[in-house]
Amino acid sequence: MKWDMIQKKLKPDRPGPNLKDYDKACAGFLWDNIRNELEGLPGSQGLNIAHEAVDRHGSGPKKNHTAFRFIRADSQKKDISYQFLKDETSRFANVLKMLGLKKGDRVFVLSDRIPELYISALGAMKYGAVFCPLFPAFGPDPIVQRMQKGDCRVVVTSKRLYENRIKPRHKDIPRLKHILLTDCHDDFEDGVWSFDKIMKKVSRHFVIPPTDPRDMALLHFTSGTTGTPKAAVHVHEAVLMHYMTGKYVLDFHPEDIFWCTADPGWVTGTSYGIISPLTHGLTGVVDQEDFDANRWLSVLEKEGITIWYTSPTAIRMLMRLEADLFKKYDFSRLRLIFSVGEPLNPGAVVWGQKAFGCPIHDTWWQTETGGIMIANFPGMDIRPGSMGKPIPGIEAAILHREETGHIRTIYQPDTPGELALKSGWPSMFREYLNEPERYQKCFTDQWYMTGDLAFKDKDGYFWFVGRDDDIIKTAGHMVGPFEVENTLMSHPAVAEAAIIGKPDSMIGNVVKAFVSLKEGFSPDDQLRLELIGFARKHLGSALAPREIEFMQNLPKNNAGKIVRGILRDRTDSRRC
Ligand code: WT7
Repeated sequence: MKWDMIQKKLKPDRPGPNLKDYDKACAGFLWDNIRNELEGLPGSQGLNIAHEAVDRHGSGPKKNHTAFRFIRADSQKKDISYQFLKDETSRFANVLKMLGLKKGDRVFVLSDRIPELYISALGAMKYGAVFCPLFPAFGPDPIVQRMQKGDCRVVVTSKRLYENRIKPRHKDIPRLKHILLTDCHDDFEDGVWSFDKIMKKVSRHFVIPPTDPRDMALLHFTSGTTGTPKAAVHVHEAVLMHYMTGKYVLDFHPEDIFWCTADPGWVTGTSYGIISPLTHGLTGVVDQEDFDANRWLSVLEKEGITIWYTSPTAIRMLMRLEADLFKKYDFSRLRLIFSVGEPLNPGAVVWGQKAFGCPIHDTWWQTETGGIMIANFPGMDIRPGSMGKPIPGIEAAILHREETGHIRTIYQPDTPGELALKSGWPSMFREYLNEPERYQKCFTDQWYMTGDLAFKDKDGYFWFVGRDDDIIKTAGHMVGPFEVENTLMSHPAVAEAAIIGKPDSMIGNVVKAFVSLKEGFSPDDQLRLELIGFARKHLGSALAPREIEFMQNLPKNNAGKIVRGILRDRTDSRRC
């Protein structure tokens, strides 16, 4: 279907796409050309994400342009300009200096989507420290574990999150020396400072130190099937990818107003909710509140959003609303919608055209890839149900792993195998922090093995089939079963626990636990509620199971390992 033509008809003033000829762009593609579109630090001092995203605009013609528009929970708005962002991020860099942080030290942020989150993220990278976001819907267990593993030195958070999540376990994070509270005007206790007050003590002038493009800039936690969460390390040259995909995939034009609905606690919310739009000098809209259908539709209309990046779960939630509701809004400024994180229903593509006047473009990538790898580009026909084609500069293939461990490329169209990417792109993760073996395991013969099963059709479009492991996607967020099982097993009644994703038409999967009990405990509703409450308290709403089923013996293989696949099959067949 010629989506682009339909769209043009509906929106005649729509600018042409930045990427007009996909094949030509791929053939002549050079990362050096992208590098030349960025500025680099003055005096050939390297490449720093914060310079490309903030400083070069903050002291240039864009300095008075709105960098972010924050919509608070009470719908009050606060605009901040590039110049203001430059000054405030410089202050934050000076705060880190005053606190004695060294290059490469980790700055964690556990916060709602308020200006301080964005200032800390960019200020940390400016300083040469590493920004490490945490999702505020995590409970104390996942937070403490990530802070330990990431060697957290400073955390920016609120009083409530500090008191509920960090303080009770502070002794487990001995290297965490400074806590900056965004909602206290006065210092709270020793080592727990007021963000506002400390920012006022320092200058708004800061010169970014020399930054090697391979210096660590970002740390994103992601879950594995086994073991603790992995800390994927990203470096400053990832900004080439943030910039390039902003140009070619999200099709940024200078006056665009962009809304990425993802929280920076997940990689999408950092790569595209913070960095990418800033590298193009755009205005990014940030809503502090979570999904609410009416609120979101009015944000799209009132803020005049032109490009919207969201999740299939949000789209499915909107799809169940009355079609007439959409007619009450004016979406004439909206010209592009993208989604990521989980499979996008083919019907959603057509629905988008009816509800918003724009089809929905699916994109595919991972925490490890740092940026979009496969996409339905604006200038290309969308194939509903497909993730699209690899972006220029990226080689993607479907591989088959032989029993010998060797890999073979599957050239036959429509034949599933493991999706792999030729290693070496700028935003490729450079390590799993302190876990070289886990990192090595992801690569075979120069290919990064994604763990996703997919196939390629005869025209080069990639189609998602499923995961090759036990990782769960719920509302687009990754949940590692091991982490949830561990917490459940710390409850005195639980002998063993196994976590699976139970298919759900709205959020993809719900986290479901199978639990066997220790002797003397009875599998009744009271205990079920207690366990759900226990999990919520320790893990937070983002990871806690919504359902618990008691089972006397969990299915095991010959080696005595729980086979989650059997539990999944059982749940699937019951659904039918
Ligand atoms: C996994 C990565 C980086 C974006 C957010 C998620 C799944 C991602 C799609 C898509 C089907 C998708 C894959 C992938 N996924 N995009 N368009 N269609 N599945 O990052 O949390 O690291 O998750 O999300 O399974 O491996 P993440």
